[in-house]
Amino acid sequence: MTSQTDTLTQFLRSRRSIRRFTSDPIPGGVLADILQAAVYAPSAHNLQPWRFAIVESGAARTLLGQALTLRMSSDMQAQNAPQSEIDSRVERSLRRIAEAPVVILLCRDTEAVRADQPEETLMGVQSVAAAGLQLLLAAHAHGLGGNWICWPLYAQQETTRALGLPANWQPQGMVFIGYPAEQVKDKALRSMAEITLTV
Ligand SMILES: Cc1cc2nc3c(=O)[nH]c(=O)nc-3n(C[C@H](O)[C@H](O)[C@H](O)COP(=O)(O)O)c2cc1C
Repeated sequence: MTSQTDTLTQFLRSRRSIRRFTSDPIPGGVLADILQAAVYAPSAHNLQPWRFAIVESGAARTLLGQALTLRMSSDMQAQNAPQSEIDSRVERSLRRIAEAPVVILLCRDTEAVRADQPEETLMGVQSVAAAGLQLLLAAHAHGLGGNWICWPLYAQQETTRALGLPANWQPQGMVFIGYPAEQVKDKALRSMAEITLTV
């Protein structure tokens, strides 16, 4: 292995989800660089169906939080969760959205891929996920931490409407990014024997 390969491999291995951030702002140039790196991800038919909504203003964050936690609360109520548990989860979620230095909603342009086959839709989703990982890695390269959040999947239309996004921007997830305020731990990985087969 060359030292360059070794460095890159170590870099890929060292990315972790970061859920606590300092309040330091991310310079605009750094954010632009991260987004510019994300769009080099592979995509099915090179259709680049990813769209990114940067949720910046306090008002937009509030609207996003409300759209996401409304569904969260009703799902928890349907599961008979105690109201105190629902309230604290909602409060924590709203706080995380309000405090994350950068919130990026990852969307799929439903018009960028053929809608006639479910496989094409799936490929669009996979392509957005590839861009999401690339975005997290680019953030890591800048010394930032990120966390992929699945909540928008549970309230796709509500999220699109709340933020006034084009109707064809279908949320797939969101990413919080900021300077890390936590130490990462080693993570347990499944063994290669479990996850690979040579056939
Ligand atoms: C599709 C997807 C959805 C995720 N959703 C959440 C989430 O809603 N909340 C959260 O804290 N982490 C979420 N994560 C982060 C995972 O928990 C994390 O990647 C996993 O525990 C492995 O840890 P690592 O990223 O540090 O390697 C999500 C990751 C992916 C890929």
